[in-house]
Amino acid sequence: MHKIGVLGGDGIGPEVVREGIKVLRAAAGRFGFDFSTVDYPYGADHYLATKEVMPKNALDDFRKLDAIFLGAIGDPRIETGLLERGIVGAIRFGLDLYVNLRPIRLYAEHLCPLKGKTPKDLDILVIRENTEDVYVNIGGFLKKGTPDEVASAEMIYTRKGVERVIRYAFEACRARDKAKKLTLVDKANAIAAHDLWRRTFDEVGREYPDITLDRAYVDATCMWMVKNPESFDTIVTTNMFGDIITDLGAMLQGGLGIAAGGNIHPGKVSMFEPIHGSAPKYRGKNVANPLAAIGAGGMMLEHLGEREAAQAIDDAIARLLTSKEIPSLGTDSGLSTTGIGDRVVAALGGKAAGAARKRGSRKVQASSNR
Ligand code: IPM
Ligand code: MN
Repeated sequence: MHKIGVLGGDGIGPEVVREGIKVLRAAAGRFGFDFSTVDYPYGADHYLATKEVMPKNALDDFRKLDAIFLGAIGDPRIETGLLERGIVGAIRFGLDLYVNLRPIRLYAEHLCPLKGKTPKDLDILVIRENTEDVYVNIGGFLKKGTPDEVASAEMIYTRKGVERVIRYAFEACRARDKAKKLTLVDKANAIAAHDLWRRTFDEVGREYPDITLDRAYVDATCMWMVKNPESFDTIVTTNMFGDIITDLGAMLQGGLGIAAGGNIHPGKVSMFEPIHGSAPKYRGKNVANPLAAIGAGGMMLEHLGEREAAQAIDDAIARLLTSKEIPSLGTDSGLSTTGIGDRVVAALGGKAAGAARKRGSRKVQASSNR
């Protein structure tokens, strides 16, 4: 029984996560595993009601789970970054989720804004470092609010932090049935500290003679991703650059409505979320596309060892998009959030199992359908 913590969060978060759980239930029914959920209320409403972003013991609670499923955090009523840093950042840093795994994959040709690119041209695995860089928020303000104000934020990289994510990336690249090429994306020509990434990459790379080592600056990477996305296999990069290039990647996939990610510490409780934000203007309207959350749920199953189920969810998404049963990824698809969730459930062939069961109400033997 997998124990999953659910943080719907803000805006469209709760709605898309609800569809994600619905699909997970269907997959559980079909593939014979079970999971229970624990809901956590953190987000803007909780903060406004309690003046607390996330209690100190929340991380201890999370450590007892097998995985965390997060919707989206962020609300215009709250000071920029307070919730994002206090919840998303706190989970990533607090649980030491040093890998941010963000696959960029084109599911259907018509979704891609690039002319002439097909699914075989866009299949990049981005591995974003997730616990260092400017995200550590070392720095501050001097003479704040005056004409002489100084603001600083330090880019921090540790040998350990860089090495572990690079090592993970080499392993991930090796495990993929692709070109066996790992690209280090940095800005070593302008940022001297990135030399640590280059040296570590070269050193660790010697242990992987089967992998081709490739290096690219982040600005050039943005160009190549648009011009020749097929030239990339696996990318490893810094926290900040990974944030930026995966939004670009999401657009190449057809939009943020499909891009999913995992915040991972191998062997430990990890967190899965859509890459998109809370889109407050669509909150409660049942119009947001839940495929990114559903895909994140699939990645969570993969992490939990339910590989067949994870693959089935990915295949179902691909089928529904290529057949145009789900015609687009935006709010213009003509389908509701729940309607898209229903289609994925139906495509999984698990309608009855998914709809009839209540949360955690029935245990299914792990081996029954395998
Ligand atoms: C993401 C988001 C976050 C980030 C924000 C919400 C802090 O943009 O997950 O990509 O920058 O990492
Ligand atoms: Mn981002």
